[in-house]
Amino acid sequence: MTVHETDVLVIGSGIAGLSFALKVAGPARVVVVTKKQRADSSTNWAQGGIAAVIGDDDRPELHVRDTLAAGAGLCHADVVAGLVRDGPARIRELIDWGVRFSEEAGGRLSLGREGGHSRRRIVHAADRTGREIERALLAAVEADPAIEVFEDHIAVDLLVGEDPSTGERRCAGALVLDRRTGELVRFHAGWTMLATGGFGRAYRHTTNPDIAVGDGVAMAYRAGAAVMNLEFVQFHPTALYPAEGRAVLISEAVRGEGAVLRRIDGKPLMEGVHPLGSLATRDVVARTIAMTLRERGDPYVHLDLSPIPAETVERRFPYIFAECLERGIDIRREPIPVVPAAHYACGGVRTDEFGRTTIAGLLAAGEVACTGVHGANRLASNSLLEAVVFSHRAAERVREEVRATPCPAEPPCPTGRQGPDPEAGTRWEARGAALRDLMWECAGIVRSDELLARAEHRLRAMKRETELEFAAMLPDARLVELRNLIETSLLVVRSARWRRESRGLHYTIDHPYRDNERYLRDTVIERRQDP
Ligand code: FAD
Ligand code: SIN
Repeated sequence: MTVHETDVLVIGSGIAGLSFALKVAGPARVVVVTKKQRADSSTNWAQGGIAAVIGDDDRPELHVRDTLAAGAGLCHADVVAGLVRDGPARIRELIDWGVRFSEEAGGRLSLGREGGHSRRRIVHAADRTGREIERALLAAVEADPAIEVFEDHIAVDLLVGEDPSTGERRCAGALVLDRRTGELVRFHAGWTMLATGGFGRAYRHTTNPDIAVGDGVAMAYRAGAAVMNLEFVQFHPTALYPAEGRAVLISEAVRGEGAVLRRIDGKPLMEGVHPLGSLATRDVVARTIAMTLRERGDPYVHLDLSPIPAETVERRFPYIFAECLERGIDIRREPIPVVPAAHYACGGVRTDEFGRTTIAGLLAAGEVACTGVHGANRLASNSLLEAVVFSHRAAERVREEVRATPCPAEPPCPTGRQGPDPEAGTRWEARGAALRDLMWECAGIVRSDELLARAEHRLRAMKRETELEFAAMLPDARLVELRNLIETSLLVVRSARWRRESRGLHYTIDHPYRDNERYLRDTVIERRQDP
């Protein structure tokens, strides 16, 4: 088997992986593996922007307060304070790397507003913030000779062994499948950064691109790392209807500029539901939409942009304007039909504020990580911020202690020798589709004990079948992803079953209230343990 040796292995080429790679390269040799093309990431699709305390009327305490209010009691307040404090410096750094954010006349950064924010504080590049960030970071990476990027390389499992100098379990890199040749390759590294993003693709309707299948959570869990708060899956209230494939997101910034949600009969949807109306936090808005659709049998609700001048619509939201126009909707004159869609994983691999997981040598940052910032519900535009702040902190630690591979290690589950049978692709596709339907129906916006029990039962059966195939067959990227999608979904459902209350994004009709006595704490799962 081919072996590559490096100081630092980064798995994933979104904002978390790329910004980390740029910071450690130089003192360290860095390899980035990414499972498709380098720009394939959720980062590339981010719209609204990055939250940071920049406006004259803003203060760190206000951003902290808004973040804690959204998080419904589970945010780690000290970690949030650090996130907010470091935000402006990380924004300046992105600008130094070449990111061109939108500006007002006079050269000041233009600041947008989104749900749950008490001030305008969203730094953006029109409504394609993520594409601009990804472009600039990739250009900086390409110019750095200490970073090598391997496209079409999908990490299959982490390598973990015993560190001879300390006797502790340590991550020593990853087993990776080269999709072009079908060859398994070992990447050995002193440090491994997991930056694999989220798992929106576990749901029938999602804003996420097809890379988002929970590979990082599943690999880390199999390797023995703790995962945390996975029941808190954020549904974005406004995806363009019909929300098929990678649904087109209608940024919350549109509501920040004055757009209002209405039932299709014209009644304002959020009137009397929340004092912030259409700009209430996402958990509240998405749940109100889901329940309204269920009660009335309507296929969607309307987002009414009539309070926004037509010129502002075109200038501020050129991407959304063009996407809707292509589908025959002129948003300067007509409302947009919208529905909720799975959008963001607030939970993930548990880390401290330096990106360290519970396995030595294994770091995690970005959407795959759970730092304690988001609690039970992420405040809009805090996730790009979280990714750069904690990648930066992790990079500082690694720069203090650059090291080569410390220990030999075996992958936990070697794959088999059989080629896939002719029906394998169709079978895996059908199983993936069944999983997405199951998660949407049983572990979505509104849950119940019975639905979650049904989901766990069916996911366990899918896991048994898939693990047998995985053990027997030659490595295949489709099977690698399906296996991870099932593992991660099962962790979501197990976490949701443990939390017998409703809080933030987790809402169950059988336990509709908060129970601070028993559940004012994180949901932590380690392999072979219950939360
Ligand atoms: P990603 O950007 O998703 O990158 C993950 C990388 O890992 C990809 O390169 C992927 O190919 C790779 N990868 C995954 N598994 C493997 C594997 N097994 N082997 C090798 N490579 C692998 N957040 C905000 O703060 N503001 C916004 O305005 C905003 N808008 C959004 C709009 C949309 C449509 C979406 C989907 C999300 C939005 N978010 C927003 C959320 C935010 O974009 C993501 O949380 C963030 O970009 C995640 O960055 P990341 O680096 O952690 O992961
Ligand atoms: C959006 O633009 O509405 C997405 C922002 C986010 O997910 O933080």
